[in-house]
Amino acid sequence: IYGPNRRNSQGVNLNIRSQYQPLMDEMAAFMDKEHHVKPLLAFEVTDAPANTHEVLCPFDRRVRVGNVQWTTQEQASRAVDAAWTAFPRWDATPVAERAAIIRRLAELMEAHMAELMTLCSREGGKLLTDGVDEIREAVDFCRYYAMRAEELFGDATRLPGPTGESNELMLAGKGVFAAISPWNFPVAIFCGQVMAAAVAGNTVLAKPAEQTSLVAHRVIELLYEAGMPRDVVQLLPGDGPTVGSVLTSDPRITGVVFTGGTDTAQIINRALAAREGAALPTLIAETGGMNAMIVDSTALPEQVVADVIQSAFQSAGQRCSALRVLYLQEDVADRVIDILKGAMDELHVGDPRDLGTDVGPVIDEDARKGLSAHIETLKGEGRLVAETKLDPAHTTHGTFVAPVAFEIDGIDALEREQFGPILHIVRYKAEEIDAVIESINSRRYGLTFGVHSRNESFAEAIAQKIRVGNVYVNRNIIGAVVGVQPFGGQGLSGTGPKAGGPHYLLRFATEKTLTINT
Ligand code: NAD
Ligand code: ALA
Repeated sequence: IYGPNRRNSQGVNLNIRSQYQPLMDEMAAFMDKEHHVKPLLAFEVTDAPANTHEVLCPFDRRVRVGNVQWTTQEQASRAVDAAWTAFPRWDATPVAERAAIIRRLAELMEAHMAELMTLCSREGGKLLTDGVDEIREAVDFCRYYAMRAEELFGDATRLPGPTGESNELMLAGKGVFAAISPWNFPVAIFCGQVMAAAVAGNTVLAKPAEQTSLVAHRVIELLYEAGMPRDVVQLLPGDGPTVGSVLTSDPRITGVVFTGGTDTAQIINRALAAREGAALPTLIAETGGMNAMIVDSTALPEQVVADVIQSAFQSAGQRCSALRVLYLQEDVADRVIDILKGAMDELHVGDPRDLGTDVGPVIDEDARKGLSAHIETLKGEGRLVAETKLDPAHTTHGTFVAPVAFEIDGIDALEREQFGPILHIVRYKAEEIDAVIESINSRRYGLTFGVHSRNESFAEAIAQKIRVGNVYVNRNIIGAVVGVQPFGGQGLSGTGPKAGGPHYLLRFATEKTLTINT
């Protein structure tokens, strides 16, 4: 349930060496490669060594994985010109052709799993188990959105009307979309955004996170191999504010699909609103969370701990869905904490390529410093419950943060999302449950939430009162499945629509009603 015999929510053992050995053998061929990449634009990009940035491996900062030439503001502007010009042609391309390209990309990603996985690991610090899940999720996004696009953008819907009049409703692309993505799902979220926008008939300017441009670059190369025209999807690696400010201030950008921090979403929102003479924009923003789990006295402590370990520490806590605050009813708190301490002792932090590793590095030195500063504050304000040991033999050269749990008195002192393996625990009395819910709702983050209870009516009542996008009962709170658990938050956590859900593509589309007097 945790440690080397970790199981997923369906009970499948994720760490069977034989399951991963063939992939690991294939990955060996890509392990030492250094990558040198440039923006992938509709026009030729000349070499600019002075604007080139190193990518260091998060689990061993002595290793250079490659370097990335960042996009200049002038190139970003020219890329918008090309996308603007290409839009009418792409929007007129039959949806079946657009979907076929996206499906071919899914096949190519499956065929290049080892290469993509190696990049996810060396550039993004991903565990094998996490990376494989992520690439499969990207494949699912491609196939799901291709299928939904054919359902939605195929034939127009015929509507009733008086004799002598025909009415039809049809969907089309909106225009040019900027797709701005984070580093923590550098294949799945990156692909989900770009493919949804493109399959709906929009042209796309994809801006990957600074930390994970190499894997994004490889995905777009595969997309071109699948048949995507270069002026329909362009890749603009680079600094967020530098490239982002060009994209979000250009009046020709019809929409922005963004995943990342809440503060960044607010900057983008203000920039879009300030544009003179631009059409009213679409902003789809999926942001951070302050995700909680409530455990009552009827819950099974062993199951609670297994789900807490996965929710708080899988992917080193670097999931927007990850558990940040665990509320334990006082009758069960000591028992859960006891088992949690034992479970955290068993976790192994280290090289993500080793199947015995449970927790890999955090993404970079800035992240490590920020999390360490929060841990220092908690040492003063909270009570240390448990901390996994770091073995210097495995962690000295990387940006590692040991999983840690602190008891605190309430969440008022938590100002912002802490994006790493830090768990906060709050005890509550049964009669305080309404105040607990009110305190969670009042923070206005609303992404994921869990409840553990064998009292069905308690669980149902809490699920109904809590204002979040995804509620999980008696299980972990991470790993939403495309087409099964549409994912996304509300309030400070996001605008919707839900990624991997049936309505997602509609936000990328414009509706047109055609009335003909026959
Ligand atoms: P971030 O906000 O720092 O960066 C996200 C993207 O925005 C990057 O590509 C960055 O270059 C770009 N950017 C930065 N400043 C910009 C600006 N001024 N204009 C335009 N673009 C700009 O986030 P991050 O550190 O990459 O990712 C972690 C965050 O993402 C966490 O808060 C996490 O909760 C959130 N996240 C949310 C979801 C979700 O579905 N809700 C999923 C994954 C991650
Ligand atoms: N969709 C991802 C999850 O559910 C972020 O963990």
